[in-house]
Amino acid sequence: MSQIPECGNRVPKLVWFGLTVVVKIAAGVALASTGGRHFLQIPGPTNVPDRVLRAIAAPTIDHRGPEFAALVGELLPALGPVFSTDDPVVIYPSSGTGAWEAALANTLRPGDLVLTCETGHFAALWAQLATRLGLRVEVLAGDWRHGADPDAVATRLADDPAHEVRAVCVVHNETSTGVTSRVPEIRAALDSTRHPALLLVDTISSLASIDYRHSEWGVDVTVAGSQKGLMLPPGLGFNAVSRKALAARDTAGLPLGYWDWLPVLAANRSGGFPYTPATNLLYGLRESLRMLDEEGLPAVFARHQRHAAATRAAVRAWGLEVLCADEREHSGSLTAVLLPAGYDADEVRRVILERFDMSLGSGLGRLAGTVFRIGHLGHFNDLMLAGTLSGVQLGLRLAGVPVKPGGLEAALEVLAEATT
Ligand SMILES: Cc1ncc(COP(=O)(O)O)c(C=O)c1O
Repeated sequence: MSQIPECGNRVPKLVWFGLTVVVKIAAGVALASTGGRHFLQIPGPTNVPDRVLRAIAAPTIDHRGPEFAALVGELLPALGPVFSTDDPVVIYPSSGTGAWEAALANTLRPGDLVLTCETGHFAALWAQLATRLGLRVEVLAGDWRHGADPDAVATRLADDPAHEVRAVCVVHNETSTGVTSRVPEIRAALDSTRHPALLLVDTISSLASIDYRHSEWGVDVTVAGSQKGLMLPPGLGFNAVSRKALAARDTAGLPLGYWDWLPVLAANRSGGFPYTPATNLLYGLRESLRMLDEEGLPAVFARHQRHAAATRAAVRAWGLEVLCADEREHSGSLTAVLLPAGYDADEVRRVILERFDMSLGSGLGRLAGTVFRIGHLGHFNDLMLAGTLSGVQLGLRLAGVPVKPGGLEAALEVLAEATT
């Protein structure tokens, strides 16, 4: 315990002890610190590479000067490959929620009907935002263990001869469940019914982690954020915008101020923004795009799939259940783990944070307390995964969850056998 200071009035020992405890409780995580690096294994924000941190640390420059214009001129074309498109990409100084709002506000009119697929917590939040913006929202119900159902989308659109549905919203990788929706099949559902609705897709936890193709899959607006596969801190939001979406902008009637694409696209042409951009995050973005280019996107996707497969092997060997219920839809970027009835996932996370200084994702919304989420995306490698799964295995044991031994070994086996 801390030294008790000598002072004139002699603070009673008990009071001093009490104060020390309060300070330690307030310090929370600091109590657990045992040296070494914190393991940030939530499914975003993710670990930021030192290269990116160093880039962000450069002096801030004049955002109306030639050096900044050169940065923008380099960044915008380099972003396209990550979205797999030649369409323009609008960058906002915002979180992902801002980019959600931008996608809706630029394309829709008050009272327009939007079809959303209930894949989990984030799909529900996007739907709530749409309602708050004055849109009518129809939800295709889901069980939070499967992705968006292409058949249900096709059935609903086939029943809409007047084309009342103006947009279909899908979360590509539902971060609350670890389920990846099959966007090409959703596209096929729109095409098979010849329905003109816009396709809006949230890739906040899939971009630059899981194969995604804005143009080839006929997506109209792709929504993304900086803090996951792009390996940056939070603070940048993105909209990749198809020609059809840009045309919809001309007739959109929702209030549109800060989020308006047009002033951003116009200012970008001369290397600027219509407001003060997040200059230092853009330095970081340039560096993270270089890193992704050096590794190559196919290798990045394969690495994420390998880590996801190894994680599932561990979970199953422990005798636990992966939340995602469809083999075709397992997420490459995170795994949500269901605990047996009667065990508290938050207690497991608490033990792991206190003992091993590792943060895992909590169960969100209706999954609170019943699942924890292992993030394995972004700046991450085989041995970081091995460390992560070691911490989970130890934490499960210490929290008294009945698990079989051998989970870590099962994961290592997958890593050892991987060819990509
Ligand atoms: C899939 C998905 N969509 C949207 C959001 C919301 O983004 P933000 O918290 O950056 O506003 C998140 C955040 O984690 C997310 O995972």
